[in-house]
Amino acid sequence: MTTTRTADAASARAAELRALIDRHAHRYHVLDAPEISDAEYDRLFRELVDLEAAHPELMTPDSPTQRVGGAPLDSFTKVSHRSQMLSLDNAFSAAEVEAFFRRAERGAGVVDAYVCELKIDGLAISLSYRDGVLVRAATRGDGVEGEDVTANVRTVRTVPMRLKEGSGLPDSFEVRGEVYLPKARFAALNAQLEEAGKPTYANPRSAAAGGVRQLDPGVTAKRGLSTFMYQLEPSPPAHTQAEVLDLLEQAGFRVNPHRHVAGSLDEVLAFIEHWSTRRHGLDYDTDGIVIKVSSLALQAELGKVSRSPRWAIAYKFPPEEVETEVLDIAVQVGRTGAVTPVAHLRPVLVAGSTVRRCTLHNEDEVARKDVRIGDTVLLHKAGDVIPEIVRTILEKRPAGSAAWVMPSRCPACATELVREVGEVVRRCVNPLCPAQRRERLRHFASRGSMNIEGLGESIIDQLVDAGFVADAADLFSVTVDQLLTLEGFAQRSAEKLHEAIAARRTVPLTRLINALGIRHVGEHTATLLARHFGGMEALAAAGAEELTAVEGVGPVVAESVARWFATGEGRELIHRLDAAGVHAEGVRAATGGTWHGQSWVLTGSMETLTRPDAEERIRALGASPGTSVSKRTHTVVAGASPGSKLARAQELGVRVIDEQTFLDELTAAGG
Ligand code: IVH
Repeated sequence: MTTTRTADAASARAAELRALIDRHAHRYHVLDAPEISDAEYDRLFRELVDLEAAHPELMTPDSPTQRVGGAPLDSFTKVSHRSQMLSLDNAFSAAEVEAFFRRAERGAGVVDAYVCELKIDGLAISLSYRDGVLVRAATRGDGVEGEDVTANVRTVRTVPMRLKEGSGLPDSFEVRGEVYLPKARFAALNAQLEEAGKPTYANPRSAAAGGVRQLDPGVTAKRGLSTFMYQLEPSPPAHTQAEVLDLLEQAGFRVNPHRHVAGSLDEVLAFIEHWSTRRHGLDYDTDGIVIKVSSLALQAELGKVSRSPRWAIAYKFPPEEVETEVLDIAVQVGRTGAVTPVAHLRPVLVAGSTVRRCTLHNEDEVARKDVRIGDTVLLHKAGDVIPEIVRTILEKRPAGSAAWVMPSRCPACATELVREVGEVVRRCVNPLCPAQRRERLRHFASRGSMNIEGLGESIIDQLVDAGFVADAADLFSVTVDQLLTLEGFAQRSAEKLHEAIAARRTVPLTRLINALGIRHVGEHTATLLARHFGGMEALAAAGAEELTAVEGVGPVVAESVARWFATGEGRELIHRLDAAGVHAEGVRAATGGTWHGQSWVLTGSMETLTRPDAEERIRALGASPGTSVSKRTHTVVAGASPGSKLARAQELGVRVIDEQTFLDELTAAGG
């Protein structure tokens, strides 16, 4: 009886302390307006720590004591976002902002208000709340799936673990924004690292990313990360972006105060002008101004193209230009054999990060700019990201310097380099070239491809050097014992990497296609191909002609893909990956489906199905959803206001059915 009452009292006091601590932490970290002294705050905190230690059953995941960081993780789990996390199109001039205004107003009619926000140069983050409690935090990842970094984000003081009562937000929602590292923290962190003889971070953004992706939340807790949130998903009960920001602020999130609702282009341009110089005085990096149509109804009407909303644009501040010296010009062999000259530079800080190397693209480009070893050059970052030599400063050229000459043989395997007619690059055409193999493997494991956790470039190099791995399929038979023979591995790290590789045996088809490293096929084309063919078998079997029929795929790409699958090496790799148990997820083996091998084309809009759903169901039956009508098309499904595909189908005598018949046939086929 007595114990129960004590437990009740303890529980009540714990709840009270948590509420008090949350309130004061919010005043301190978010509002920058503390009401009690630090000592008083520490006393409350200490009392809660002691109470939870004495009554471990009272611990809750949203307790402020959890902000110090829980137990280290082995790796991050991948999680899906509630809806795609989009990125923004860029504008680099007032004229491009004006063009955005015209596009928006053409699409939405009169736009009465635009919200201008600072573009925070941090790491996009998505926080999920259920019934007012933070349940998950995820990185953006590829926009569709990110990494679960909840344990780390809990340590970020500006992230509320529990929302204020009556916040007016939905029971379940995601709030999105940016995690960043304040400039002052960044400087202190780098000073500390340098003193410890450890590598430093290139810019606050990478330091923030490193902090969020720490396996040990204790390390994240000490880094001093902060946040600004700007988006609510779903957005009710707000009607405008301006209201969303206010709502987020009221609920306890940190929202950037430098926002402005503008009614005209001039007002937006004035805001941009205002911050173009003042931004350097802020304690965080901002690389531009985000301009958003404020009305959420108009936003919905405008929709998105590809991965960017049509209702927003990011104006990017013009890049800075700095001088540095070319210490050397080396050549690098890429995964397709392309040999690229790379300038090694005297390290220099430009637009927030230190640049040491910079691509010179090809020999013609080197000749055009006449960049020589020993030259002083003007460097900037294209789009604020990619370092680029603008020009050589001739007045500073040392006497006796000579023009640079491209080597005639591959630096890795000494094979004579070939420059095809009409091409600007020279290539190493030896498929067994060790440098190409290495690059293909790096590409295979990379983030945009198979995304194998922990398999970085230096480990790949070690695996190749040790003779354990020659191609991508070999990665899946590397053993823990083999890893243990490599420098830097212990039992646990070897097991972890082994598991990480095994975990990526099944990946989305897009990733697998991209990972193959086919010339001209990047993430975008891989997505088109995956969507069209739905499976590796169908893609491998497609000829150049069928590939050209895929929307967005031109003859050069089609030819390259067809050639890759027709060559011995391509076929061999596919076969070996298959034997290693590597396959694409979510696509039923095409051979099993009732509609196996058929091509179905959709045109017009459907009432009951979205297009991706319809395509998914077509694929599930073994058919491929096509984008253009040919004689080989099995059926055209015509929804409301069908396009030219209907006319084409009639012309070619291809079967046409309506939505209802389509649904009936899907059901009949077991889809
Ligand atoms: S809005 C659909 N607002 O910039 C809307 N983004 O290149 C998506 N960012 O991925 C973003 N500050 O990580 C928005 N005030 C702001 C932002 C912002 C920084 C980042 C964000 C996004 C990237 C777009």
